[in-house]
Amino acid sequence: MLKRLILGSVLAAALLISSVSLVFADSSWISGTTDQKIDSLAKIQPGLGTVMIEYGDRIGNMYYAAQAGNWGMAAYQLKEALEIQEVGEMTRPGKAPLLVSFEKRSLKPLAWDIVNKNFKSFQQDFKGMVKGCNACHAATGYGYIAYQLPDKPAVPAKLRTNVTVTRDQLMKLLKDLVSE
Ligand code: HEC
Repeated sequence: MLKRLILGSVLAAALLISSVSLVFADSSWISGTTDQKIDSLAKIQPGLGTVMIEYGDRIGNMYYAAQAGNWGMAAYQLKEALEIQEVGEMTRPGKAPLLVSFEKRSLKPLAWDIVNKNFKSFQQDFKGMVKGCNACHAATGYGYIAYQLPDKPAVPAKLRTNVTVTRDQLMKLLKDLVSE
């Protein structure tokens, strides 16, 4: 009985040590001083190229959710688009002013259309937004990146859910875009 217990704890200790050393082995590529390690981590944060893939997907998802009358999903996609945009503002501060002005001019009207559940006005503002997206691409030297609404949304979710959300809930989801 005692022997078994000892064997058990030795095994447990060995397992613990091997998993700890696995963790260390996994992070061993981050080397140098703490500052150098932070630098290494900063370098691999997503830049605008990566951010824009998610941004574009979410904007298209937002469109198709609104078209399906799924205003909760449309609000959610816009909120998430704004969040990933903010990552881009942080990692590419040089482009932050352009992104912030795009947010005010193009995303805020869409947020209000979603809160008001007005698809007609949403469609109009979406067209204006696409112009804004591509104007920024041209202004930053990426004129050959011309966003267009894809034929289908990227999100693998059912969009016609018949789930209704209240205006208050939509305001809450989009609070950063419908405040002031
Ligand atoms: C700051 C101005 C700016 C705004 C506003 C902007 N973009 Fe971009 N976008 C960029 C830049 C810069 C790139 C190229 C990024 C890179 O490679 O560093 C890019 C790249 C892209 C790409 C290519 C991503 C890929 O597949 O590699 C897509 C798609 C895209 N943007 C969609 C959009 C959409 C949709 C909007 C509007 C809702 C938008 N962008 C608004 C600056 C902007």
